[in-house]
Order: sequence, then C-alpha cells, then structure tokens
Amino acid sequence: MATARAKTIHRCQACGHEEGRWHGRCSGCGEWNSLVEEVAAPRRASAGAARGTAPVAVADAEEMPATGRLSTGLGELDRVLGGGVVPGSLLLLGGEPGIGKSTLLSQMLHGIAARSGAAVLYASGEESVGQVAMRARRVGAVAPGLSLLAETALERILAEAERGSPAVLAIDSVQTVQSAELASIPGSIGQVRECAARLLAFCKPRGVAAVLVGHVTKDGHLAGPKTLEHMVDVVLQFEGDGSGPHRIARASKNRFGSTQEIGVFEMRSEGLVEVLSPSELFLAERPAGAPGSVVVASADGSRPILVEVQALVAPPSAGIGRRTAAGVDTARVSLLLAVLAQRAACDVLANDVFVNLAGGARVSEPAVDLGVALAIASAARRRPIDARTVVFGEVGLAGEVRAVSLPEMRLIEARKLGFTRCLIPKRNRARLSDDGGLELVPVGTLTEALDALG
Ligand code: TYD
Ligand code: MG
Repeated sequence: MATARAKTIHRCQACGHEEGRWHGRCSGCGEWNSLVEEVAAPRRASAGAARGTAPVAVADAEEMPATGRLSTGLGELDRVLGGGVVPGSLLLLGGEPGIGKSTLLSQMLHGIAARSGAAVLYASGEESVGQVAMRARRVGAVAPGLSLLAETALERILAEAERGSPAVLAIDSVQTVQSAELASIPGSIGQVRECAARLLAFCKPRGVAAVLVGHVTKDGHLAGPKTLEHMVDVVLQFEGDGSGPHRIARASKNRFGSTQEIGVFEMRSEGLVEVLSPSELFLAERPAGAPGSVVVASADGSRPILVEVQALVAPPSAGIGRRTAAGVDTARVSLLLAVLAQRAACDVLANDVFVNLAGGARVSEPAVDLGVALAIASAARRRPIDARTVVFGEVGLAGEVRAVSLPEMRLIEARKLGFTRCLIPKRNRARLSDDGGLELVPVGTLTEALDALG
C-alpha cells in the first residue's frame, strides 16, 4: 500500500491498537475491518497544550455573548440554530442526497453575507463553480460577499480561507474533500475525521464559523459523518417526506440552542421558501373527512415524526379475512384486530383489512398502536377522525392504552405542525403540565379512545 507524505498509522476503532499499515483484521483484538488511517503525530493538541490554560471559577467566567450570531435571513433556520450561526462554531448539515442541502447552504450563506456584509466562502467538491453559481442565481443567493470555490483538496481550501478571511467557510460535502496527509480515499472514516479535525483547528482560533455538508444514508444516519457528531457544535438535519415539497430542518445536537425546534420549508422552483403555518402544508394531502385516517405522533430514536396511518376495511375477497400492512408489522395489525374485537366491540376479523403508512413511512415503535387501532375502527364504522387530532399510545392485550417514551417531544412536534387535539395515554398525561395550544385528552383504554373521538 502507498503511504502519503505525512507518517500515518492505522488505529483499531474497537480497541485502539495501532498498526503500521492497513490490515483486514486487527492483531490486537481480532476485530475485522476496524482499522482507520490517521496522522501519526497529532498536530492538533498544539495551542492549548503548549501554553496551558488555568481553571476559572464558574462565577467569574465570561459567558459567551448572546449577540454576535450571524443571522441567515431565514427565520425558520435561525430559530432552529438558536438565533443564528455562532462565530467560530462547527456545524454539520446532514441529509439524504437530493434533499436540498446545497440549496439550503446557498441560501443561508447568501443571507449571512448579505446581512453582515462579511465575506463567506462556499467550497464545493461535488459541483463546478458553474453548477453552484447556476443554483445560487436561481435562488437569488447572489450577495457580493459570497464567493465560490470548486476544490476537493482540503489544504487548498484552507489556504484560500486564510487569504480571504471569511466569516463562514462551508464545505460541500465532507465526503468529497481530501487531505493530502492521508492515503485513504475521500469519504473514508479516516479522511472525514482528519478533514473535520483540521477544519476545527483552523476555524476555532480565527472565529470562523464552518459548515460541513454530509450525506446521510436512507436509514437516516450520517454515514461517515456519524463519526463527526461528537466533534461538531451543531448537527443540523435536513429531511423531507420523500416525494413532497416539504422539508424540515432540525438540530439533533445543538450546543447553542434547543434541539426541539423545527423549521419548515417548501422546495419551489425559486428555492426553499419558509413555511410559516405548516399545518396547511402537512394536512394538504390528506383526504378531508375520509374515514380510516389518523395522524400519529411517532418518534424514531429521539426524532419526532408525524405519520398518517390509513386503514381500509373491505369484505373478504377469499372467504377468510386477510391482512395487508405497509409500514407497520402485519403481526401487530392482527393482534390489534383481535384486541379491537374482544375489548372494544369492533369486530372486523372476518374482513380484509389494509393498513398503510402514508408516504412510505415505516414505524416500528409501539406508540403507533393506538393510531392503527383507531384508523381501523374509523374505517370499519365509516366515521372520519377530526383532521386536527393526533394520537399516540401503545395498546395492550387487555385493551389498555399504555404510556410511551418522549411524550413532550411528540406534543411539541404536533403543536408546531398545527394540530389542536391529542389523544394521549393516561399515564403520560398525568406527568405532564398543560400544553398551551394543544388540548390533551387522556385515554386509559381503547374504548375510551373511541369514545373520545365521538
Ligand atoms: P440540492 O440542493 O442539490 O440537494 P442536495 O445538495 O441535498 O443533494 O437540490 C436537490 C433538488 O432540489 C434538485 O433535484 C432540484 C430541486 N430544486 C428545486 O426544486 N428548486 C430549486 O430552486 C433548486 C435549487 C433545487
Ligand atoms: Mg448537494
């Protein structure tokens, strides 16, 4: 294997063992594919370690000023960031390919340059200057201070930043830049980590804010960039609903603000437009007054997502009732059908039952139970559920509605997206204070939930 100019080693990510060169298997612990290239003698520790810093009493320490944040000009984004971009901070902007990260980046860099008058550098390793410029002009991101650089070599990007001293340096994407110090290919864990560390070392002392774009895989994780999450100050996730025009920005980590805010945008031909009343947008596609549909406030890890559960109950096509489920577990649907029949006087066991999560969503957590059961009951009884009602809760075999995790986060999301009423497990309700704007209806059983829907 070729080695680069700097001396590099390969360190096992499982046990920390060092190898001179890459092997498929760590000779320290026997783990496969765990060796990642890194520079042998870290230059990083330099400044702080050499001079040393003295401890300061917390009462005497100067607080980070609240002012001085760079507004992006996009109110929805500023709110998610906690008031704008903090100078000297490192922000990771993650999202699936094609979701609109580069568009959001152009618009936010434009906003910062236009409002602060500062220089801003947008380095792209994915697209030519012409491509980036074409998008930027289309969305009106043409502030005089915004410069473009098509470059994949990290050292050249940093040299350019040294020369232009921008207030913000953006790199699109971290998977395409490469430090000459490492032999590893761009996008490898070694490169991604080394580039981020070098960027951090460059930006912090100069007070330059850095934005790193990172692609995430379909399952919603920052692939290579996952290893960066602990190094950066803010992890901003940009998500969509697949086919629709609607995009959500949220901070899954934020050292300078809340992680519970979301910003909603719509992707139009002229770029991303802030959606100030998201309820209309979210509800737009839902069939008004149609039975068999209800929205569930779900959570995927620590990330809230609202999903629409749809159910259809039809006469049996083959003598016995069949169940078809997309997005939820079919066995779970069968169980809920039995519970509905035995505990809530809603027997559709003999029918064909279809359950679908709109937009191709998938939910595996039990909190979706109540939504599935209510959607089936609504379809069976041909009674629509109010469009501004959201539900969540696990359903037990006795027909009881059980508490679930993260109720506050689900409620915040529901309120933000314009829902006015929530059916919530009794035990969750008991531990919550009142939620302004959202009527909380505690339910202890499936029967109570059906009654609450009228
Ligand atoms: P892009 O920002 O390039 O996505 P990413 O950087 O996350 O890969 O934008 C992706 C899509 O957005 C692209 O397929 C076209 C669409 N788009 C619009 O609809 N309107 C616009 O103004 C722009 C710039 C892009
Ligand atoms: Mg892009």
